[in-house]
Amino acid sequence: MGKKVFIKTFGCQMNEYDSEKINDVLASKNKLTQTKEQEDADLIVLNTCSIREKAEVKVYSDLGRIRKLKESNPNLRIAVGGCVASQEGSNIIKKAPYVDIVFGPQTLHRLPDLIKAREKNGKPQIDISFPEIEKFDHLPVSNSINPSSMVSIMEGCSKYCSFCVVPYTRGEEVSRPLNDVLKEIITKNISEVTLLGQNVNAYRGLMDNGEIADFATLIEYVSEISEIKRIRFSTSHPNEMSDALIDCFNNIDKLAKMIHLPIQAGSDRVLSAMKRNYTTLEYKSIIRKLRKKCPGISITSDFIVGFPTETLKDFNSTKSIMKELEFDYSFSFIYSPRPGTPASYLEDLTSHEEKLKRLHELQTENMYQGEIFTKKMLSTTQRILIDSKSKRKTGVFLGKTDNNRVVEIEGDKSLLNKFVTVKIDKILKKNIQGTII
Ligand code: SAH
Ligand code: F3S
Repeated sequence: MGKKVFIKTFGCQMNEYDSEKINDVLASKNKLTQTKEQEDADLIVLNTCSIREKAEVKVYSDLGRIRKLKESNPNLRIAVGGCVASQEGSNIIKKAPYVDIVFGPQTLHRLPDLIKAREKNGKPQIDISFPEIEKFDHLPVSNSINPSSMVSIMEGCSKYCSFCVVPYTRGEEVSRPLNDVLKEIITKNISEVTLLGQNVNAYRGLMDNGEIADFATLIEYVSEISEIKRIRFSTSHPNEMSDALIDCFNNIDKLAKMIHLPIQAGSDRVLSAMKRNYTTLEYKSIIRKLRKKCPGISITSDFIVGFPTETLKDFNSTKSIMKELEFDYSFSFIYSPRPGTPASYLEDLTSHEEKLKRLHELQTENMYQGEIFTKKMLSTTQRILIDSKSKRKTGVFLGKTDNNRVVEIEGDKSLLNKFVTVKIDKILKKNIQGTII
């Protein structure tokens, strides 16, 4: 029987994408097949996240459990990758000496070499360097058969928001050359692509003629690929919402009518302390432009509550901007001080109870907004990509709309992996039903 790898992914879509790549690399170079059972594995890979403290704590408690597995199977190898690895480096070996390999988001392609070195000299191996965009030049072709896939267009972030650890764990922004991105999309044999990056609208990709393509240009090129029927992207930053990019929502039908545009806070003072480099007025003006070019567009956002120095008045501004801008289902988080970030040195006077209360208020408001958005979809036509069969109902298939609502339709399995246009007939508490038109 061949050897097996168990990969556990924490955190964002970038990590999900990286985990796919880790699997591809280990399948092609080490002939490892993936298992869903940790107990069956010869190698356990934790692809970690350090965006908030909770994510990080989970990694160490997982490692504690894995240690027991290694005690009963000394041949088990443990690799820790991702942002906790990048942030902690050799500290991981100090805290958990049974870990064999520590690798960063930019060195996952070196995993086979690290495994080899570990076997050769019996010592833990660490490589958390940032060798620019090297990893993409060393990745094998994926064998995935999913009709929808993510493709990374850039790595890292150079925005240095005062609360955020990403620039330190993933490095500064580096864009992949335009043709590399297009080639990866084409070889994937997919009909939907999500263009990924911490900050996709900062994309500046080298073209073969020596010119630089911006993000709007990249979207235009991707839309020319006939197999691709829908294009998504994540995440964008309000500062680089160029008019050309906003125009894409009007000009490029393949572009999903949705955007995730983190605002973080509704108080200009807090935004400035967060080093977001925009004001609420500027953010609102982007939303206005987007809605003008693309009426009905679904806009989602990220919010942080309890940023150090956030007063009740600041929080109320956040709540009211959320109400005013009528976001679709969004995300809100309690601020978590991250090691080495400027905000972590600020005095934090708000109690945890108060932060929980603010979070709850914001989430309740946003749930209400999301429901209203759903209700407005009744009787509209939507394009969905049929990606699965209903587990509960026979002859029923499921597909996602541009704004990620799951719609049930009746049909047969020939629909699987196809895009269809549906009319939304019913919106029930737990599901949305439609018919193909
Ligand atoms: N690139 C994205 C954000 C990536 S991190 C952007 O343009 O903003 C995803 C989200 O996690 C952020 O939008 C933020 O809301 C949240 N986040 C980041 N650091 C955080 C911290 N220290 N505490 C709480 N939430 C945080
Ligand atoms: Fe983080 Fe701000 Fe970049 S939230 S990922 S530093 S845009």
